[in-house]
Amino acid sequence: MFGVGGVVWLGVTAFAIYVVRTGRGARQADDLNHVSPHRHRSVERAVAAALFATILILGAFLAYDFTAGRALAQHPGVALTIDVTGHQWWWDVLYEDPDPSKQVGTANEIHVPVGEPVQIKLRAADVIHSFWAPNLNGKRDLIPGYTTTLWFRADTAGVYRGQCAEFCGLQHAQMGFYIVAEPRPKFAAWLAAASTPSGPPTDPTLVYGQRVFMSSGCPLCHSISGTDARGTIGPGLSHFKSRAAIAAGSLSNTRANLTRWILNPSAFKPGVRMPALPFKPAELNAMVSYLETLK
Ligand code: CUA
Repeated sequence: MFGVGGVVWLGVTAFAIYVVRTGRGARQADDLNHVSPHRHRSVERAVAAALFATILILGAFLAYDFTAGRALAQHPGVALTIDVTGHQWWWDVLYEDPDPSKQVGTANEIHVPVGEPVQIKLRAADVIHSFWAPNLNGKRDLIPGYTTTLWFRADTAGVYRGQCAEFCGLQHAQMGFYIVAEPRPKFAAWLAAASTPSGPPTDPTLVYGQRVFMSSGCPLCHSISGTDARGTIGPGLSHFKSRAAIAAGSLSNTRANLTRWILNPSAFKPGVRMPALPFKPAELNAMVSYLETLK
């Protein structure tokens, strides 16, 4: 486009300079009523030819643009499809598998194999969100009742920050996520670990901690594979300790942050749907110890 545009610009400018230099236009403007029919026809032909060339060039650009756009939107055989659902204000992540029992769920952290095209199917649970990992692809909106898709390929291993890019309420700014791109074997190991339910705790403190979790309001919103906690309103907590961050990328996943977060989520994310439950210090401590084992 630059090349063709440059040639057209040079041609127009050269012609304008030529006309000004020779002064043909000015001399003839003095005597507009006496333009010879021959001259009139030749000017008409020149204008028609220029118009035709303009339409031809713009038409060619249009066709080229469509072809390039199609080629860019098409993805080579995608081996991995990940369902991502936007919630106020976190990301639900599900690894598709033809066998539903092998589907792996996680939240706010998406592991992908490096160098392989990955398809992401995007849905929204409540309002419009937008999936944006600037180093991997452009933004794509998540629209309630409608599935959109995008694909990307991470060429370099690493952790990529992502962010909701469509204003979706109070905590829109703290609706972040991470994409962890790692070599195939490492990714396969992660997927295998993520699909294995954590075994029941044996240590008395942890048993107590799990009981506190299960008998509180937590399982109504959160799920932990291998237990009776099957809530879907909040992020799934299976293997939650393997994630780098909590609260959708807002806090690093440390014991201290987790404790403070459970005590009063609104202190970190005002408006968050998660309520502060009245745990006694001993209960909270045991429950956090139990959650910390979900690696
Ligand atoms: Cu979700 Cu902004």
